Amino acid sequence: MTAPLDEGLPRPQIDTRLAAELAGDLFGISGHVQELGSQQDRNFLIQAAEGRRHLLKISNPASTRAEVEAQNAVMAAVRHAGQEEALPGLRAPRVLPSPAGREIERVTLGGREHLVRLLDFLDGEPLIGFPHAGPGTLAGLGALAGRLSLALDGLEHPGLERRLQWDLRRAPEVIDSLARFVRDEDRRERVLRAARNAAHRLEGLTAELPQQAVHGDLTDDNVVAVRRESGEPELAGIIDFGDAMRSWRIAELVMVCTTALHREPERPLAVLPAVTGFHRHRALLEAEAEALWPLLVLRGAVLVVSGEQQLAVDPGNDYAAEAIEREWDVFTSAESLDAAVAGSALRTALGLGRTPVQTVLAGSTPDAAPGASDGTSLLPEDVTGRVVDLSWESRQLRDGEWLEPGPSGADPEPTAVERRRIDEVLGAGEVAVLRYGEPRLTRAGVPGTGAPENTALFAELHSAAELQVRSPFAGTLHATARGMMLRADDDSAALLMQGLIPGDEQPAQSVRVQAGEPVGTSGALRLWHLTATALAGAEPDGSGLPEPRAFVRAAELDGWATIFADPAPFIGAHVLPASRRARRIDPAEDLARREAAFDALQGHYYQAPPQIERGWREFLIDTDGRHYLDMVNNVAAVGHGHPRLAAAAADQWRMLNTNSRFHYRVVAEFSERLLSLMPPGFDTVLLVNSGTEAVDLALRLGQAFTGRPDVMCVHESYHGWSIGADAVSTSLSDNPLADETRPDWVHPVSAPNAYRGRYRGPGAGPQYAAEAEAELARLAAAGRPVGTYIAEPRNGNAGAIPTPPGYLERIYAAVRAQGGIVIADEVQVGCGRLGEVFWGFQEHGVVPDIVTVAKALGNGHPLGAVITRKEIAQALTRQGAFFSSAAGSPVSCRIGLEVLDIIEEEGLQANAATVGERLRAGVQALAGRHRLIGAVHGRGLYQGIELVRDRETLEPAVEETRALCARMLELGVIVQPTGDRQNVLKVKPPMCLSPASADYFIGALDRVLTELGG
Ligand SMILES: Cc1ncc(COP(=O)(O)O)c(C=O)c1O
Repeated sequence: MTAPLDEGLPRPQIDTRLAAELAGDLFGISGHVQELGSQQDRNFLIQAAEGRRHLLKISNPASTRAEVEAQNAVMAAVRHAGQEEALPGLRAPRVLPSPAGREIERVTLGGREHLVRLLDFLDGEPLIGFPHAGPGTLAGLGALAGRLSLALDGLEHPGLERRLQWDLRRAPEVIDSLARFVRDEDRRERVLRAARNAAHRLEGLTAELPQQAVHGDLTDDNVVAVRRESGEPELAGIIDFGDAMRSWRIAELVMVCTTALHREPERPLAVLPAVTGFHRHRALLEAEAEALWPLLVLRGAVLVVSGEQQLAVDPGNDYAAEAIEREWDVFTSAESLDAAVAGSALRTALGLGRTPVQTVLAGSTPDAAPGASDGTSLLPEDVTGRVVDLSWESRQLRDGEWLEPGPSGADPEPTAVERRRIDEVLGAGEVAVLRYGEPRLTRAGVPGTGAPENTALFAELHSAAELQVRSPFAGTLHATARGMMLRADDDSAALLMQGLIPGDEQPAQSVRVQAGEPVGTSGALRLWHLTATALAGAEPDGSGLPEPRAFVRAAELDGWATIFADPAPFIGAHVLPASRRARRIDPAEDLARREAAFDALQGHYYQAPPQIERGWREFLIDTDGRHYLDMVNNVAAVGHGHPRLAAAAADQWRMLNTNSRFHYRVVAEFSERLLSLMPPGFDTVLLVNSGTEAVDLALRLGQAFTGRPDVMCVHESYHGWSIGADAVSTSLSDNPLADETRPDWVHPVSAPNAYRGRYRGPGAGPQYAAEAEAELARLAAAGRPVGTYIAEPRNGNAGAIPTPPGYLERIYAAVRAQGGIVIADEVQVGCGRLGEVFWGFQEHGVVPDIVTVAKALGNGHPLGAVITRKEIAQALTRQGAFFSSAAGSPVSCRIGLEVLDIIEEEGLQANAATVGERLRAGVQALAGRHRLIGAVHGRGLYQGIELVRDRETLEPAVEETRALCARMLELGVIVQPTGDRQNVLKVKPPMCLSPASADYFIGALDRVLTELGG
């Protein structure tokens, strides 16, 4: 394209009528014609009568034949590569010859010659139409760009040698000449300044950047995708080769990165998966990794100046008008991250060697930070320090106090909680140290849609008395708007000190200081350590230094550390020993250890799970301090980290822990307490350690009492893992072989599911009962009368499915009429979770013979119970004693009692009712907008959200449920699928769930369902 830059390129003046004529005259096709967007060409979709779809492309008259031929050659190369390798998206349209056998036709319009082509129309829609492009999609896009780059390597064509304003090699010149189209003066200045800095960073690198043919505009506008079953995009092809040219090879990746930036402008490092995806196919050179960020800034700048210019010359171009805000997002996002920070983060992600600064940070030579070579400390040698630990492992922060509202993440001023901890250290006469690089719980906040910006880029020292501060190195001290700046003579480091009171003798101007020389006093010193990299771009007077940031995301610390490093070496080991510096945990390392020592049999949630090391109420907290909303942990009924439970357990451990053959009061107290929660008739408790044990023991009791081995249970249920409990567990998702391996004494009947089972609707209960009664009769007639019936009062494993009215009372009566007994497994649903009732069987007005309880009863401590009548328990006495070493121990009983007290005193059953209703109503309302929500089962804080593809056929939305759970984690919500079809979201959070958390869940669910198009 040879047009001078400042002219702009209005699209050819062609309407759909003329396009239809051209399609007929030149290519002999006809059909419905619809215009598609383009920056500079005209594109028309032609739907031919036979259902075939074509793209009629009329190039801008500025395009030469050689250029259009080159585009065809590039498309051919992509198609060829796509035939060799089945990489998603590695496809390009075919060019269809005209009846005259030409791939390129010509037409003269308005006195100018236009080149016209007819292309295949690739199935799918531009990726831009998918609201969410997660890390997987971005990695796929990066991989596609890498593979495309390989495919085009070596492709030479004269039409690729173009003077395009999109050619990054020309970016500075383009920006300079088009900046005047940016009307807003501030914005214009920002663009020019950022472009100058980026160009400066590229100096010395550009000669090392390889050049080749590139597509030149591989963004989510120009990659088409089809919707997978899950609603996620699957890359399907590359379109619009109008910017194909010879340029830097890395330009292909730069374009891909813009997709991440405009989608998540607030998180520029969202580009990382795209970069690593590219790198896997097309390894980046060192120079390319260094150049990537400055080029991204330049690309953003070119986009905005060109977009503004395009709007100026072609005001009716809706496509350009719509794109301009996205373009500003790209620019603003790229510009918001320091290029050195970005470069370092990229190097880390790519596994390239560390920069010298990163090596120091990695701790290989902990005290050899630049500028600190003589080891002089800021503080006198007789001062001792104590760390105020604000990390996930802090024992100084207790009971969720870190969630007290405080200043925003950008403000380094101590929060009220931080202040209290600082004061405690001061009270002990020591210097309080707040650490650099520590993801603070106090800055994390409740779940949010991204990782919190909570990792400190500064350190802070507080003392009760004013302390003398000395210069740790020889340099210059001067006052800046941000605080006193001490800059090393050799520019290897600088310390920005807030809270330093210069001595009287210190003039306002810069002064030279020697290592160890006093520079002032302070009672509270906030320190940023600026590295040599940070200083490299700054003037001697300090202008041009990066703004001191207070908090960043933990995952981005490595990058930031190249600018703001740990000031610990200047603070000195007598105040902050190396062993007490903040350290980050790599979840992948501990996961590998787990996987080596554990078998896959004991699985874990998520492929790359966050490392959860702490909990509070309904939140689970990872090692970066991020809080996740825990929607699955019905075991932690009273919430995570409950201080009363911790205190009760600790107290009892100090007093006594032994087995129940000894005589101590709490075992009686706890057993009485359980009985007090039951209807009349129950008089006996047997304490065990888990739900499995409770079920196993209950089955033995049933068999011993009735003298009959045969047990009836229902399909799609789970009752535990022991041989007995597993035998009555029919759930195929827990045990796919259950149907084949079931012992002959187990007789499952249909799961009474009125939503999708054999019988549906209001009359389903009696129908299921009749079926079960018939089976009872058949078994009795066959000489195998059922002794025990076991079921949950509400099928938990299947997704909180209500047992339809008219079922339980009939089956209980029928079993008893035959001399059998019934077990209600309350392991999931018991203990108040259902809200209005404490036990699930109370929903049906029935009373079982045996009740099994666990999970919530110990809030995670191994504790279960079987509650029954003496006559039933005594039946087992004939087979010997029942004893389980830890069951009913003093510690277990204390914990059980405390849990029951907390449920009562904190009104958790009532909370389950009200917040549960809020949740149910909220999700139910979403069902009006999201076709995927088939039903909201459950009650209180025990619910199941069933996702279906079709509300008539009830086809389970399995893939969608999987994708939804993965995306919810990104948004800070832990929720999992359940049921034999894995299409029901199990919603059973701690019973202390707050209304705000319920609303957050509903909001996140709404967002993800929208993204998945469901
Ligand atoms: C209904 C039901 N019964 C019994 C059990 C087994 O309990 P535990 O895991 O404590 O052995 C479970 C566990 O999920 C359950 O859901």
